[in-house]
Amino acid sequence: MLALYQIPYLMENDILDLYDLMIGQLRDLYDGEQQQIEFLNAMYDAADSFMLEEIIDYHSRETRIQIDRLKRIFEILNEQPEGEHSEGISGIIFGARRMVGRCGNEEVRNAAIITAIQHINHYEMAGYGTALAFAKTLERHDIGNLLLETLREEKRADMGLSDLAEGQINVDAKWTSLVEKVERSSHSSHT
Ligand SMILES: [Fe+2]
Repeated sequence: MLALYQIPYLMENDILDLYDLMIGQLRDLYDGEQQQIEFLNAMYDAADSFMLEEIIDYHSRETRIQIDRLKRIFEILNEQPEGEHSEGISGIIFGARRMVGRCGNEEVRNAAIITAIQHINHYEMAGYGTALAFAKTLERHDIGNLLLETLREEKRADMGLSDLAEGQINVDAKWTSLVEKVERSSHSSHT
């Protein structure tokens, strides 16, 4: 009989210790970073703010560096980077595309893009943070330093997005939608 946490078709029982778990996590991050390249390109096209476009562009270049850094980590460990599909990042991207697609004006769409990217950032911070903790326990300080570099980049990107959202984008979205809603309700009351 299956336990609640078990998914039948994935029952391989191939993760037997902390090292295996760390490799699984790193492969999940490797696949997740790759999924983001296409997603960030789409968000760059959907954004309508010079500052937001700049941040997305910078983060996209950073993501490519993070992919290379993960490749180096796998080389050091003598492991293959492929092998996991990041269901977590897939799910966030699927939900984010739907949310961004539903936005009826540029201002609120910019705010939706920021929250989408921040959801991914937080997933990654959890992933890199725990992988780093595993590496420390396993006394793999060689890869620990590389993971710390990426973790710091993810945190900086997240803070930059928060500053932009709270300083400008969210305020613009608040007033734009207010005007649109008033116009919409007066239009519907006249019909
Ligand atoms: Fe990343």
